[in-house]
Amino acid sequence: MASRAFAGHAMRKGVIARLEGVSPQIVELRQEIERVARSDAKILITGESGVGKEVVAQCVHANSPRAHSTFVAVNCGGMPETLLESELFGHVRGSFTGAYRDKPGKLELAHDGTVFLDEIGEMTLRMQGLLLRFLETGELQKVGADGGGRLVNVRIIAATNRNLRDLIAQGAFREDLFYRLNVIHLEVPPLRERRDDIAVLVEYFVQLFARDSGCAIKGITPEAMHILSRYSWPGNVRQLANVVERLAITGRDTAATVDDLPAEVRVQEGVAFKPKRERRRTVADDLYRRLTEEHESFWSCVYTLYMDREITRGTLREVVRKGLEEARGNYRIVARLFNLEARDYKRFLNFLRKHDCQLPFKEFRQ
Ligand SMILES: Nc1ncnc2c1ncn2[C@@H]1O[C@H](COP(=O)(O)OP(=O)(O)O)[C@@H](O)[C@H]1O
Ligand SMILES: [Mg+2]
Repeated sequence: MASRAFAGHAMRKGVIARLEGVSPQIVELRQEIERVARSDAKILITGESGVGKEVVAQCVHANSPRAHSTFVAVNCGGMPETLLESELFGHVRGSFTGAYRDKPGKLELAHDGTVFLDEIGEMTLRMQGLLLRFLETGELQKVGADGGGRLVNVRIIAATNRNLRDLIAQGAFREDLFYRLNVIHLEVPPLRERRDDIAVLVEYFVQLFARDSGCAIKGITPEAMHILSRYSWPGNVRQLANVVERLAITGRDTAATVDDLPAEVRVQEGVAFKPKRERRRTVADDLYRRLTEEHESFWSCVYTLYMDREITRGTLREVVRKGLEEARGNYRIVARLFNLEARDYKRFLNFLRKHDCQLPFKEFRQ
């Protein structure tokens, strides 16, 4: 389907990414997206992590004349320099150990489309130089190839949560590259500065998770929504999506109450919800966060570490205890929180039992 999406909607892998929101900032941003989508001018998107920079880039693409072609995202901070170079520019066979065949780079694959360079502030100076050369010539220099390469036509959208002017002052980011990328600047404000969007986004993710996983929330009490609207959301929309997803997983037959909200959201309310005594983050805290926020599976993170004796039985028990607390003693819900498939439920319980980590659920009920 090559139809033009309307501003604020982007298509990718068959799903529609939407820039939801009713705040004046988001309404204006949607208008700006529509305006800047028409040209090929490079865009720099800034804003804290999780505010929706990638969604904005997708919406620009979907509203542009390039919408019929590919949108390719590359995380420039997620891999070592040599890998990133080959990822962007491609490589020729034999150019390094393991390069068994020619491989096209993302810039080539996105010909006629849009390339989203995420976390551009993490690029090494050498990579910045290579990117600048490409931007000046439009010519792809594959790793291991000699001579000029093929010309490609891509629109570049870059994003960062760093302050590039500071990086320039520190000598960590090239000023000439900054000016090349920063033709149009879009800033996505943090969620705490556009609180009107919170309720809308909560509702949006409730629907999304109900549709995708079948786990539905039976609504949210006004008190709970009040707390969500006042919370500071340091992780922005990504964190909000996670909180709603956890509510959906642990949800019961009634509307989600204040007590159902994760501790980090509640503690900010101060007196009524006194923060627990400050304590150091433990290994168990860390593992629990990886399970519930980064969606790692219990098998790949906790189980493997335990079997390799990298973590103690005490830590394993602590992780299980946290799960039971959030799931109110329901082991099936713990299994879902730990990203286990339904068919792995028995294996999960057997494992816990065998290692004396199946804590009694009774004390976590109510
Ligand atoms: N305005 C929004 N409407 C709908 N979903 C959003 C919005 N902003 C962010 N999201 C979702 O939140 C998550 C984080 O957004 P992302 O674009 O990856 O943030 P960033 O790139 O700024 O770190 C994604 O799942 C994204 O789909
Ligand atoms: Mg991102």
